[in-house]
Amino acid sequence: MEQTARELLDLSQQLLDSIDQQDWEAYTRLCDSELTAFEPEGVGNVIKGMAFHKFYFDLDASGLPKQSGISSPLVRVIGDCAVITYIRVCQRLNSDGSVPSSAFEETRIWEKKDGEWKHIHFHRSHAGA
Ligand code: GLY
Repeated sequence: MEQTARELLDLSQQLLDSIDQQDWEAYTRLCDSELTAFEPEGVGNVIKGMAFHKFYFDLDASGLPKQSGISSPLVRVIGDCAVITYIRVCQRLNSDGSVPSSAFEETRIWEKKDGEWKHIHFHRSHAGA
């Protein structure tokens, strides 16, 4: 795999880790402050900026472990932008001891600004929906 693609996949994994670990500092370091998004939590609305996302980082998730993996990734670099698509496979432990997995289709757009990749847009849907 080409070096830029590898770097972008590594950044994408860091982004997912920051979400799972509710690490707001890491998430904001990776994202453009004008991030836009479609995701199920937005119930059909385009989400602009970071405040909507911060709500979930501030929740008390009681420390139960969760993690996300990237499956079947594709990376397309177009000048200073890149489109990353993959299936996000989520695992988590619930307080009742169950360990459900779920999967999402994710498209994430990155833009290189001042030599650094910033996450500028994403679209997340339940896999197969
Ligand atoms: N819900 C935040 C993200 O997927 O980037």
